[in-house]
Amino acid sequence: MQIEVKQGRVDSSEDEAVLLNCFEEVKKFVGALKTIDDKLSGAVSHLFETADFSAKLGQAAVLYPQGRLKFSRIILVGLGKRKEITIEKLRRAYGFAGRKLRELKLKSASVQALELNLPNIKLQESSQAMVEGILLSNYQLGRYKTGDENERISLQKFTFLKEIRKGIGEIKKGAEDGEIISWATNFSRDLANQPGNYLTPTRLADEASRLAEENNLKCTVFSASQIKKLKMNTFLAVASGSKEPPKLIVLEYVPPGKTTNTLALVGKGITFDAGGLSLKSTENMVEMKGDMMGGAVVISVVAGCAKLGLPLHLIGIIPATENLPSGSALKVGDVIKSHSGKTIEVLNTDAEGRLILADGLSYARSFKPDAIVDVATLTGTIKLALGTICAGLFGNNQRLKTKMIQAGEKSGERVWEMPLWKEYDEFLKSDLADVKNVGGRFGGAILAAKFLQNFVGDLPWIHLDIAGVDFREKENSYHTKGATGFGARLLLQFLKDWKRM
Ligand code: BES
Ligand code: ZN
Ligand code: ZN
Repeated sequence: MQIEVKQGRVDSSEDEAVLLNCFEEVKKFVGALKTIDDKLSGAVSHLFETADFSAKLGQAAVLYPQGRLKFSRIILVGLGKRKEITIEKLRRAYGFAGRKLRELKLKSASVQALELNLPNIKLQESSQAMVEGILLSNYQLGRYKTGDENERISLQKFTFLKEIRKGIGEIKKGAEDGEIISWATNFSRDLANQPGNYLTPTRLADEASRLAEENNLKCTVFSASQIKKLKMNTFLAVASGSKEPPKLIVLEYVPPGKTTNTLALVGKGITFDAGGLSLKSTENMVEMKGDMMGGAVVISVVAGCAKLGLPLHLIGIIPATENLPSGSALKVGDVIKSHSGKTIEVLNTDAEGRLILADGLSYARSFKPDAIVDVATLTGTIKLALGTICAGLFGNNQRLKTKMIQAGEKSGERVWEMPLWKEYDEFLKSDLADVKNVGGRFGGAILAAKFLQNFVGDLPWIHLDIAGVDFREKENSYHTKGATGFGARLLLQFLKDWKRM
């Protein structure tokens, strides 16, 4: 989509639709709203009077100028109470507005730049949130349907109009960032929505290579024999049940100027999780094409960082494989010597994410990063604990955790901290090996995180369990059906706000 920022008044827009910001307290119209209301003989004020539209957050009303203005539709965007507005509310309001544009199959729209004059929300941030709402809500699923292509026509041009020059630079910067961040989310959604037969580990690696070329990143894809040379035996053990070859994807972004720190991002890349010999039920298996969303998010975030030009050195590591049962599959009770040298007793092959991440994290340490963040659809139990509203946050470094929580509030992808107390270690003690990969029924998400901690040593580390927030049944505001891309906005915000460690 093309996003423009221009000086001008919305009442002279030549786009198909004009979006107008409305707060609940509006008593008297001024500026463009007044001009438009006058030209339409008071149709806007009439709408307010009937109370059909009261500018509540989430409302989006359509008016038809019938030739009295150059555009054919006006969309009034309800923003709720002025005093209560937040970045996330703005993003949601524009999510609803964006859905309306999509429903009406409009191709171009302009919007009146928002002058909030609030100390806590800058023009750049509000513009970014508006763009995110529009672009995230315009994501479309269903690329395997045959038939009428017209069904998929959506917004192609979105223009900010501002009456005076001052502030146009800020809007441009906000709009650019919003576009990159939404791209990263939508790209992650696209990968995670692809069925297992389309998105194999090889295809995921191809997508990463393609992005690397487009964004000047270094990309190395290791084959099974190379993974073996690296001694990532735990990763290979999970891959052994599948005919699809595993891939270790390593993406690297080296910023053009000064570098603050080196960070490693590790993403779970299970392109389909049947559970292995500890086979899942069909019911539990349907969502498992999305078990590579952590990996998709890491790929998108490394590319997103390059697009944003952040001053960070980033390494993205994605072990990618299927987890299937077969005659050559990893067996329950097997003991594997991991990349770190620690031995693991595998008592449930469906707890495979932590196995491939054990090697991914340990391999990440060889780059000597200042910190490691991993993202994974790791446990069903995190969904039981936190529901579908926020991700589980684990970590061994208070400063990093606080930063991640703040990035969550800002980006609208919230996280909630879970404990990593040493008392939990006991449940992962094995009679045969250094650790076992499962530890009973209780506190599953915590035990998974505790397991991972064995492979990061004392490096500052954060683990995000996104299994509860990876998928949505219904659309709402800027959330669309299917894979959410959760983590892309969160991590890009986290990295944008990064201060040297
Ligand atoms: N990929 C699943 C976790 C998952 C569950 C993601 C639901 C998204 C939605 C993971 O590999 C898994 O199967 N975990 C098991 C662990 C158990 C065997 C200890 C789980 O959570 O049930
Ligand atoms: Zn599993
Ligand atoms: Zn899994």
